[in-house]
Amino acid sequence: MTEQLTGRTVFITGSGGVLGSTYVRRMLAEGARVIASDLPGKRADALVETHGKNPDFRFYPLDVANEDEVGEIFQRILKDGWQPNVVLNNAAITGELLMGAGQSFPDFADLKVSDWEKTMRTNLTGPFMVARQMDRDIVGKWPCTLVNVASMYALNGAHHQIYDGMPFKNFSAYGVTKAGIHGLTVWLAGYWAPRGATVNTIAPGAVFNNHSDEFQRRVGELIMLNRMAKPDEIADAMLFLCSTQAGYMTGQMINVDGGFSGW
Ligand SMILES: NC(=O)c1ccc[n+]([C@@H]2O[C@H](COP(=O)([O-])OP(=O)(O)OC[C@H]3O[C@@H](n4cnc5c(N)ncnc54)[C@H](O)[C@@H]3O)[C@@H](O)[C@H]2O)c1
Repeated sequence: MTEQLTGRTVFITGSGGVLGSTYVRRMLAEGARVIASDLPGKRADALVETHGKNPDFRFYPLDVANEDEVGEIFQRILKDGWQPNVVLNNAAITGELLMGAGQSFPDFADLKVSDWEKTMRTNLTGPFMVARQMDRDIVGKWPCTLVNVASMYALNGAHHQIYDGMPFKNFSAYGVTKAGIHGLTVWLAGYWAPRGATVNTIAPGAVFNNHSDEFQRRVGELIMLNRMAKPDEIADAMLFLCSTQAGYMTGQMINVDGGFSGW
């Protein structure tokens, strides 16, 4: 154990997903105290089941789209005696989440404004509300950092043909929210710097989660390293951004995508 995160108290939204649960496991192993959060349900239950007995782990149910819940979250954590110095805006409506919920992807022409707005609310307004609450309750009180989570589809268009015949597609609102999230990062970086807070974006590439061989082949052709990422490979970069070793970085986006964005 390298204890890269000793002294860090990390608050993570959407902690029960593929990447969130990896971050929780890796951060606990690196000496952090981890405040996990997610919507109530199976993913949250699994996290508590796995880590609930660890004294360095706490869990708070949180819907990032709910302004009242976000408004109270840091006060609840502080009242319980922990002071977060790292915040991860990780929760999102993702393609896999929609597929797992049995929701179909309409063609662009049929995309309902309500679905577009739901994605905006969770993926962009939610992170804004978390950042605003961090500003109100934490920033300037002690040194802290925020990591916003974008995607390889934030600043790059999707290759729609790789989704032909797949049970999931790339949906327009997703990439738009992920581009917006880096806008939030660069806006906040200069705004928070005088108060000793930093903010960066991580842009993960395609993460393997039991995708078919055919999908792996198609997406692999678009990636310099010719394969999807393991969740732990995204976590490696996330740990760095959450550590004091990233102390002189702010307003940056780190692409961890096997070279997808380099071509
Ligand atoms: N997995 C990938 O290939 C990939 C690639 C690029 C970016 N990302 C980004 O990384 C982050 C994590 O992705 P993942 O792969 O773990 O996705 P995931 O779908 O496995 O997990 C997303 C988590 O967010 C939670 N969530 C959804 N709506 C929420 C809400 N309103 N309030 C609180 N939590 C909510 C879900 O319950 C889930 O646990 C996301 O921001 C995603 O966009 C993932």
